[in-house]
Amino acid sequence: MRNGVIAIHRDGTIALANDEAFRIFAIARPADDRHRAFNDVFRERPDVVRALSAAFEMTTLPNRAELRLKDLDRVIGYTLSQVKDDQGRVVGAVMYFKDLTLVEQAEERERLRDRLASLGEMAAGIAHELKNPLAGIEVMAGLLRRQVADLPDAQTLLADIISEAKLANAIVVEMLEFVRPIRLQMEQTDVRDVLHQSVTLAESKVRRGDAAVALRLPPSLPLVDGDQHQLCQVFTNLLTNAFEALDGKGHITISAIVEDVTQDPAFVVDDGEVQTRMLTVDVADDGPGVPPELSDRIFDPFFTTKPQGSGLGLAIVRKIVDAHDGRIDLNSTPGHGTRFRVTLPVSSGSSWFK
Ligand SMILES: Nc1ncnc2c1ncn2[C@@H]1O[C@H](COP(=O)(O)OP(=O)(O)OP(=O)(O)O)[C@@H](O)[C@H]1O
Ligand SMILES: [Mg+2]
Repeated sequence: MRNGVIAIHRDGTIALANDEAFRIFAIARPADDRHRAFNDVFRERPDVVRALSAAFEMTTLPNRAELRLKDLDRVIGYTLSQVKDDQGRVVGAVMYFKDLTLVEQAEERERLRDRLASLGEMAAGIAHELKNPLAGIEVMAGLLRRQVADLPDAQTLLADIISEAKLANAIVVEMLEFVRPIRLQMEQTDVRDVLHQSVTLAESKVRRGDAAVALRLPPSLPLVDGDQHQLCQVFTNLLTNAFEALDGKGHITISAIVEDVTQDPAFVVDDGEVQTRMLTVDVADDGPGVPPELSDRIFDPFFTTKPQGSGLGLAIVRKIVDAHDGRIDLNSTPGHGTRFRVTLPVSSGSSWFK
């Protein structure tokens, strides 16, 4: 990033202004800018004119000041200095400045990252602290239940307490899982097993009702380099959402294909084409669909449209898929259904490293 400089004589004419100065202030450089009146050439920037002209009057000059150019959405950081002759008389003034916009944007991103990191740490801390008292509530309610075996009303209340504590615990576990940095235990994973297990797990979590599930898998699927447990979680969360969206009626289709994808030439280091084997799994339902205005937000942590939802399901899905160097895409038509497509490399690491 280059700096801008403007120097003016005591009479207000320009002694020097570099190209950067004109670029930063978005002013076309006149053919003969030297010796022209500074306040005329820079008349579209009255703040700059005022700041530099003031340098003659000041006894202490600002070490570093900032100017916000609202129309250009730019922030300028500047310093001023006086030019004196041998007798110590002020004969000129110089403004030395820098476009801070990019610096500011980088700082803003950094601040956001820090904020998210500390939010994550705080959430992890709270979740961790909540785990023990919740387990205590569950255990003690269980003990009490045995002591009041002959009181049906108390039994019902205690059963409710236990199930609510279990629900709270499940949210805490999910939250911990989300904020924790992901560590994959890679193994050769059978996707067929993962998908079957995920259907069973999703059925145990939410009501399936009469929703039909069809698995359309090719006769042979290669083993995939991945974390079996975490991949199970990906498809369990997608299927849980699909069951919830269908609300007891409709169809879910899980299909998978494997194909060789040609790498983008920009990423290929050697000559010739590099093919990567990719597994694509679609989880599609014919439920109500996701409204287009929500499609960007459903992967955000804590975004939910369900009264009992924590909004972490898809955030976790995305985190796990990212960790596998994969991607997840949503395709949804309101009223017709939703399809989530998970694409994963069959072998981990890029093929050209092998
Ligand atoms: N198959 C789907 N059909 C329609 N909407 C969906 C589907 N899957 C996800 N959504 C929408 O995306 C939102 C976010 O889903 P996500 O799984 O992250 O959270 P949740 O299901 O609301 O809560 P949680 O999974 O933590 O219990 C849902 O609340 C729902 O609005
Ligand atoms: Mg969910």
